[in-house]
Amino acid sequence: MSQPMNLVVYLARAGLGSRRSCDELIRNGSVTVNDKVVTFPREKIDPEDVVLVDGEPVEARELRYFLVNKPRGVASTRRDPHAERVIVDLVPNGRILFPVGRLDVDTTGLIVLTNDGVLANRLMHPRYGVPKTYVARVRGKVSRRALGTLRQGVDLEDGLTSPAEVNLKKQSAKTALVEITIHEGRKRQVRRMFAAVGLPVEDLHRRRYGPIADKGLEPGGYRELAGDEVEALRRAGEEVAAAVGGEVEGPPVLLAAEAAPVPEAVRAAVPAVPAQGDPEPESEGAGSV
Ligand code: URA
Repeated sequence: MSQPMNLVVYLARAGLGSRRSCDELIRNGSVTVNDKVVTFPREKIDPEDVVLVDGEPVEARELRYFLVNKPRGVASTRRDPHAERVIVDLVPNGRILFPVGRLDVDTTGLIVLTNDGVLANRLMHPRYGVPKTYVARVRGKVSRRALGTLRQGVDLEDGLTSPAEVNLKKQSAKTALVEITIHEGRKRQVRRMFAAVGLPVEDLHRRRYGPIADKGLEPGGYRELAGDEVEALRRAGEEVAAAVGGEVEGPPVLLAAEAAPVPEAVRAAVPAVPAQGDPEPESEGAGSV
């Protein structure tokens, strides 16, 4: 940290969760600054101040943002005892990063990794997430009726899907290529939508995540996001926050759980969950947001 900042921002930057959860940590008296309990979230913190949460030191870190083109077979989690590889291992020192959302283990394509917990929480909102564009190779003949249903909303077991943009790119004898943009992030949503209209997905690739696309990134490749891309993602995150009334609902992401000890108050208040909307943790590797 080079400049003074609000205590709540400092904690969020240290990877202790969303602003709301950091706000709660401060208000419930878990945070000291230079040995004094501070319960005012907007207290100004200077670079030389010593901040402890539940007696453990925290440090605001440099925020990093990477784009990865996930190959098939790699789990989009930080840990998975069943997977040969996990997404964070594709980036040097990736263990301090967190995947923003999920792709199924057999889905390929773009995924953002970051240690910015505030932004990640916003972007992963299951109902108001950023638009995500996929290309699906499906088995069968794509009828107008199927396209209409996919566009308007498919009745899935967890409710009607919200409107999607859908374009038939190519129809061959047995398969078709369909581009679909969804605005939600439910588990295996695209596969379930196509299955519901009688078109099983054979291959699924994410080609755009919100404002971020990159046709040139080879499978397994990664790059750091440029400043304007990070800004665009932040704006997208702000739109989500505005859509949900300023605060992102659901459990916050706890970042850097492996990089630094997690204070007891944080462990108790903030379970280290992956993405909102993903039911189960890191071993599963099958959710998608
Ligand atoms: N929808 C799916 O069905 N799978 C993914 O990996 C992403 C979106």
